Amino acid sequence: MNVADSEVVASILSGSGYETTEKIEDAGLILINTCSIRDNAEQRIWGRLKAIKHLKKENSGLKIGVIGCMAERLKEQLLDTEKLVDIVAGPDAYRQLPLLVEEAESGHKAVNVLLSREETYADISPVRMDKNGVSSFVSIMRGCNNMCAYCVVPYVRGAERSRNPESVLREVNELYSMGYREVTLLGQNVDSYKWKETGNPVGFPGLLSKVAAIDKGLRVRFSTSHPKDISDELLHTMAEHSNICKHIHLPAQSGSSRILKLMNRDYTREWYMDRVEAVKRIIPDCALSTDMIAGFCTETDEDHKESLSLMEWVGFDFAYMFRYSERPGTKAARKYKDDVPEEIKASRLNEMIALQNRLSARSKKNDIGRVHEVLIEGFSKRSDDNLAGRTSQNKVVVFPAAGHIKGEYVNVIIERSTSATLIGNII
Ligand code: 5AD
Ligand code: SF4
Repeated sequence: MNVADSEVVASILSGSGYETTEKIEDAGLILINTCSIRDNAEQRIWGRLKAIKHLKKENSGLKIGVIGCMAERLKEQLLDTEKLVDIVAGPDAYRQLPLLVEEAESGHKAVNVLLSREETYADISPVRMDKNGVSSFVSIMRGCNNMCAYCVVPYVRGAERSRNPESVLREVNELYSMGYREVTLLGQNVDSYKWKETGNPVGFPGLLSKVAAIDKGLRVRFSTSHPKDISDELLHTMAEHSNICKHIHLPAQSGSSRILKLMNRDYTREWYMDRVEAVKRIIPDCALSTDMIAGFCTETDEDHKESLSLMEWVGFDFAYMFRYSERPGTKAARKYKDDVPEEIKASRLNEMIALQNRLSARSKKNDIGRVHEVLIEGFSKRSDDNLAGRTSQNKVVVFPAAGHIKGEYVNVIIERSTSATLIGNII
């Protein structure tokens, strides 16, 4: 999400004559795009600000801005930071950045943290900052209306709004003609995508089919799905298009219905299991990944065991796992006590990670002997003799180059796996 936003910001500022640079020492303006989702994300930003402090001493004209969610959350407070920050812009204020930069250059502190009900940056063509030129992100909606009790997103990114499908299709077509062969459609809850302002209403399955129809040679991914909203219609749309990747990121957060209720997730353990059964029935070769939170308020050992047993039952191919971190202003911070001791959160998280390592290894072992179509993204990290790409299920595969180049599709037989990668040969 933040990469996509940084690309929008680069595009807006390029209209005012700014260019991006690879060397931070050359920059006249540094904008740090921030995330507030967990406290450690914010701590990293404070560390980054400290680390670039010396640049201001070396270049007195340098302006530093904090943009995105942390800007929205902390607002003017950020300006007090050792006189380091000149510009603060929330996620809906990026169009104002040229003006804010001008204001900062004339010696004033510049702040805009107004949230909007409409802003989707639909008409902005992002300046691509990815390195590979093969896969890219396209934002299809902004904000979130879900109000999960632990989550700061609705407060810092505002209410949910969907982007005009025409502008999404235009952007994806443009990417395809630039040589990109994979797009990931992004939103906090893509299943609630809805455009109803012109002609027939378009929901997420409709948008996804339209994007997939651009060209069979273009892979389409999406993230994030919400278990309460993911529909059979979407699963059938995925099954019908060979170029819609067979991978769903479906955050469960917890395996305990009691905790899910406290989290305000609007589904139970049984509902989640029913959705997973639907995925396995309609798209048998679909990979599933999840986000899990360890140690949410009042979580008991029993609740935690239910999280582990759900992970085991689904057999997730991949998972992001976090210990609960209280975020100021959220429902959980206002109403519940953060009462699981940090050592217990840590030990539960470790148990989850150990289990997921086992599940991920099993998932990769199952690929051995199978042939997968892989979209080549570039050379492998270790050697220019090997290429790396992904399967439709989003697993990384490394294999000898054999004269192929990035952007091509090749069939690879999987011969073995390491902890993070599948290893194979082109057939
Ligand atoms: N503490 C821990 N994890 C969180 N997430 C969101 N808010 C919190 C929080 N306060 C996790 C959720 C979400 C992912 C993006 O971050 O698992 O799906
Ligand atoms: Fe946060 Fe829940 Fe919205 Fe995801 S769906 S962004 S966890 S409020």
